[in-house]
Amino acid sequence: MKRALGVCYYPEHWPEHMWADDAARMAELGITWVRIAEFAWSRIEPTPGHFEFGWLDRAIDVLARAGLKVILGTPTCAPPRWMLDRFPDMLALDASGHPRKFGSRRHYCFSHEGYRLASAEIAIVLGQRYGRDPRIHGWQIDNEYGCHNTILSYSDAATVAFREWLKATYGTIDALNNAWGTVFWSMEYDHFNQIDLPNLTVTQPHPSHELAFRRFSSDQVVAYHEAQVEALRALTDAPLIHNYMGRVLDFDHFDVGASIDIASWDSYPIGFLSDRLEGTTEHKQRYLQQGDPDMQAFHHDLYRAVGRNGRWWVMEQQPGPVNWAPYNPAPLPGMVRLWTWEAFAHGAEVVSYFRWRQAPFAQEQMHAGLNRPDNVPAPGFAEAKTVAEELVSMPEADTVAAEVALVFDYPSEWSWAVLPQGADFTYFRLMLDAYRALRKRGLSVDIVPSASKDLSRYKLVLAPGLACLPDALRLALADTTAIVGPRTDAVTRELVIPHPMGPDLPGFDCTVSQVESLPPGVKRPVDGGGNVLHWAETVEGNAEIALRYADGKPFEIRSGSLSYIAGWPDAALWDRLIVDATQRSGIETERMPDGLRRRGTSTHRFYFNYGPSTVEHDGMTLPAAGVHWVEK
Ligand code: GAL
Repeated sequence: MKRALGVCYYPEHWPEHMWADDAARMAELGITWVRIAEFAWSRIEPTPGHFEFGWLDRAIDVLARAGLKVILGTPTCAPPRWMLDRFPDMLALDASGHPRKFGSRRHYCFSHEGYRLASAEIAIVLGQRYGRDPRIHGWQIDNEYGCHNTILSYSDAATVAFREWLKATYGTIDALNNAWGTVFWSMEYDHFNQIDLPNLTVTQPHPSHELAFRRFSSDQVVAYHEAQVEALRALTDAPLIHNYMGRVLDFDHFDVGASIDIASWDSYPIGFLSDRLEGTTEHKQRYLQQGDPDMQAFHHDLYRAVGRNGRWWVMEQQPGPVNWAPYNPAPLPGMVRLWTWEAFAHGAEVVSYFRWRQAPFAQEQMHAGLNRPDNVPAPGFAEAKTVAEELVSMPEADTVAAEVALVFDYPSEWSWAVLPQGADFTYFRLMLDAYRALRKRGLSVDIVPSASKDLSRYKLVLAPGLACLPDALRLALADTTAIVGPRTDAVTRELVIPHPMGPDLPGFDCTVSQVESLPPGVKRPVDGGGNVLHWAETVEGNAEIALRYADGKPFEIRSGSLSYIAGWPDAALWDRLIVDATQRSGIETERMPDGLRRRGTSTHRFYFNYGPSTVEHDGMTLPAAGVHWVEK
């Protein structure tokens, strides 16, 4: 694995006389990659069909002369105003039917065929000009699909495309009526053209209808994306990349990732903690200036799975306070360095900071960069420099072969979002809890897709909340020590309760006969320590009972090395489950002090202190935001 630093740069925001100095300072800092142009459509094609390449040619030239490798973005997430004159109906509509208007970015509906074609066309124009240009070392397609809640669109274009999708998926209207169970409330359809999008209904829409719309919407992203992939493939051999976003789950990243070369994601640890993570006030205060200790690592491991052959980057790394979360504190000194090294320890090839210089204007004028708007280095600059210096003496290293896998499945997120049954049941949250429990025992984890067929290289596999188990995975779970449940294999692909009721596990007699959701603060104690929160199940069958609720009802039932857990464990109960399962499967663990995390590479073991104070562990002393590595 080769590791390098990058930066996001917007030459179109700055006078041209600054470019050469910017490029020289980037190189001097130790940066080797620079991403440009992903929002520059209005400068590349100021009026329809009239292209201005002069400035872009010169910017590329200046950057390349300084020794930087350029990643060129297709600018399709920010179509210029004239595009709307061309396609007045290209905007997405929100669930209340209101247009998501021009004036920011991502103002397009994935189902609009005219815009999809226009996006492929600009990719072709750029590919023809720069596809074989040796200064261009990679392409970013669009920018952060799904950011700002932009996957689900209730437009006319989406309605027409959804009906086509349903026809192709179900063949006949009778098949759809049967699969969904539309007889309920007389929702039966006579033909596909009667089916609307599942918004503006009097009460909850039919869940199978909603889930179908989620699947369709994900497929529309894939189709939109592949139109650009196809355009560029013919014109360049440089790798194609997309930058995904943290906890944006409305489309299947594995499906988007299948056609490109490198997965990347945009890591804003402090923004995420404030903006998109559940957690107690105490947790949020403790990690206020560091970010949650598992959120970044989770996504690193997820995108290693999404990237072809495990290739992944951090395309945007938070360098200081962001502007978009409810509260925007500065990183604790040392955190920019810590986040960067953590990404490398998980296998990132490149970590690229967002952005070179803070913009003095527009929506992100309060968002830090490596440099201030007046071009004086901001605090993140020195930390990036430290990493660059440290990288020089680090050997190349591969990612470690993890012994533990966590199965991640986007349709499960959609299924439980459609039918949560309890306000706190969120698939992602359950997954992060499981992942956190593994990490607190010092384990390196691989995240794997639910399409996995062979998990025999893992000693332990966790698949909580996996709504509908694919057959291959069902069998693969039998080859290893595994923990599934709660809510694993509970519904069909259509979001219908199967007959016989689930879960259907190899060699296992088990039926979940009743489920309960629990409000905040309610705990169901488990014999010997720990509690169930949020979600409790009653299971029947004659499988071995490994753990019981305090009231005697089964909690963990087991057949061979496969366990089903009938409830959502709190941290203490997860820990008991992990300790027991790792002992049974012969995995060594190491209990991490609060806030300390570790991750191995093939050559080193890294320790990261996310906690706000110094930690002593195993002969090491790590200050807050400290990073420590030892050779294995
Ligand atoms: C990302 C986006 C960037 C910038 C950044 C600010 O979501 O890709 O363009 O907006 O957030 O944190």
